[in-house]
Amino acid sequence: MAIGNRGWALWLSALLAIAGGSLAAIGWSQDSAQDPVAEYRAMMGDDNPAVFAEDRGKELWNTAQAGGKTLAATCDLGLGVGKTRGAYAALPRYFKDTGKVQDLEARVVTCLSRLGADTATLVGKRFGDGSESELESLTAYLVEQSRGVPMAVALSHPQERKAYDLGKAIFYYRAGTHDFSCATCHSQAGKRIRLQMLPDLATPEGARAAYTTWPAYRISQGEVRTMEWRLADCFRQQRLPELEYGSPAAVALTMFLAKSADGGVLAAPGLKR
Ligand code: HEC
Repeated sequence: MAIGNRGWALWLSALLAIAGGSLAAIGWSQDSAQDPVAEYRAMMGDDNPAVFAEDRGKELWNTAQAGGKTLAATCDLGLGVGKTRGAYAALPRYFKDTGKVQDLEARVVTCLSRLGADTATLVGKRFGDGSESELESLTAYLVEQSRGVPMAVALSHPQERKAYDLGKAIFYYRAGTHDFSCATCHSQAGKRIRLQMLPDLATPEGARAAYTTWPAYRISQGEVRTMEWRLADCFRQQRLPELEYGSPAAVALTMFLAKSADGGVLAAPGLKR
């Protein structure tokens, strides 16, 4: 590996800055100006630094944990023990063994803690923020295993339906100092904050475009970020209390977005600003 994760981040940020700086000079189209990352994604082709996290995740999946067993030999993501291909496309789902609806990240925490991992330590490092997070790496790998698979969340179990309804209610619930809901920022086309386009998540097209490209490598942060991170960061923007990792609220919101993205073909980990 000639160039490290950080190296990529710097290189990419520089490229983005150059692309931005030359906008005026070349009279960039309105569309590109609204989404400079799209332009730059095109330049990158299939190269995404998320592959480093995917590789780490694959290794973790196949490495014996403290108890001597691997996740590959013990973890059921819904399609059977060790089955990874397409599993993410059907998540969140109800798991009989925990009696809960779980998203990918909550499920991986369950699997790792059964192999002896300390949940508090694991979740403490849920978002790497400079250090490597096992949960981010594993998520990147497992999501990649559903690349090209259409989203198909069943909602066949009553608990799944309940989670969907709760997620939808949270999406439209106004609260916090600004009296915002998710929908305040995310239910109209063509809205933006500063230079960032605000995706319209209330339409199937918008939900698909967003859901199928997360988790993503964030150029501005030089890290892979997961859906739980995305939601937690929007909670912060909405001035709500911290969203607890893997909590019923986080899973419910993910369920609402995942179901809204039904049929969208997964292309994650994506590449974002
Ligand atoms: C104050 C406005 C605001 C609120 C309220 C808000 N978000 Fe966001 N959200 C943003 C911004 C800004 C971005 C894009 C950030 C960027 O481009 O880096 C974003 C991005 C997202 C994305 C990723 C979209 C994509 O295509 O990459 C998702 C999913 C999302 N928000 C979900 C939510 C949910 C769910 C809620 C409610 C809990 C919420 N947001 C509340 C501002 C908001």
